[in-house]
Amino acid sequence: MLRFATIGTSWITTQFAAGVALVPGVEIAYAYSRDAARASAFAEEIGAAGWSDDLPGLLASADVDAVYVATPNSLHYGQALDAIRAGKHVLVEKPATVTAQEFETLLAAAETADVVVLEGMRTAYDPGLARVRELLGSLGTLRRASLRYCQRSSRYDQVLAGERVNIFDPALAGGALNDLGVYCVSALVELFGEPGRVLAASVPVGGGADGAGAALAMYPGFVADIGWSKITASDVPSEVQGELATLVIDHIPAPRHLRVRRIDGSEESLTVDAPDFTLHFEVERFARLCAGEGDATPDHRRTVATLRTLEAIRRSAS
Ligand SMILES: NC(=O)c1ccc[n+]([C@@H]2O[C@H](COP(=O)([O-])OP(=O)(O)OC[C@H]3O[C@@H](n4cnc5c(N)ncnc54)[C@H](OP(=O)(O)O)[C@@H]3O)[C@@H](O)[C@H]2O)c1
Repeated sequence: MLRFATIGTSWITTQFAAGVALVPGVEIAYAYSRDAARASAFAEEIGAAGWSDDLPGLLASADVDAVYVATPNSLHYGQALDAIRAGKHVLVEKPATVTAQEFETLLAAAETADVVVLEGMRTAYDPGLARVRELLGSLGTLRRASLRYCQRSSRYDQVLAGERVNIFDPALAGGALNDLGVYCVSALVELFGEPGRVLAASVPVGGGADGAGAALAMYPGFVADIGWSKITASDVPSEVQGELATLVIDHIPAPRHLRVRRIDGSEESLTVDAPDFTLHFEVERFARLCAGEGDATPDHRRTVATLRTLEAIRRSAS
């Protein structure tokens, strides 16, 4: 049995618990919170046998094999590093760290401690993205892509009211790029590799985080534009344009309805056979890696390239 301790008591950890429940051989043994009452109540909510408000003590416990880190982005690195150094496997929410260098440090520490570290990039393990990847070869030479994820956050209303909100707090590495744009960047890297160059612009909101933005990602003979927002909404689909056909993707973080429009005028619609709930796919991947099955190198390459691209976007947009 792979026994998890969770760090973070928000909605995403309840989703993680639902994912764990779908994966045999994995359980949540402890829920951690900075607050004892919250830890106890949250453990009950997600069905964890134990709870703790003492993180160093929890990391030292022999009853924990792995840690799931779901705190504000700027905290991931330190918490993941402490867990790795305590000999625990670590599944860390997206974006795994703020910089690629930090993730490389986690990788080196994990190698020393002989444990697994993996970014919980739910969308990378979505069957819809795998289907998109399979279809790319039928589009002819790829020339253009447009990927977007724009969803207005209800928490933006709090920002407009002058409140400090974690997800829009630059001190916690909040902002729309790290929260939603990261899904476009991860898909971009997964489908086309790391761009050679990026040009970007962003829209700051109260507190200084980015609320929305856009970037051009440049490759030899190919260019992609990506767009993200937490302060506006869009239902314009994403697409990949090849010289022979265009692939229209309903929603890049979870592709379900795909359309291939060929230059001969023919058209094909495809539905991806995938459940609405997909978080268990990353838990399965992580559990297999912890059991010594599979090689995490491609996952780590994607994470590092994604983090480098996010850094390049931030530099260009500043
Ligand atoms: N994969 C997905 O679909 C998905 C969806 C949403 C979010 N996420 C990721 O999950 C992570 C958490 O996001 P979120 O919006 O849920 O964050 P959040 O609500 O701001 O914080 C998550 C938890 O971290 C702890 N926390 C909050 N502020 C803290 C602080 N200043 N110092 C120490 N601990 C603090 C809190 O737990 P306690 O106070 O109980 O300790 C809180 O429940 C982010 O990395 C985000 O990108 C992923």
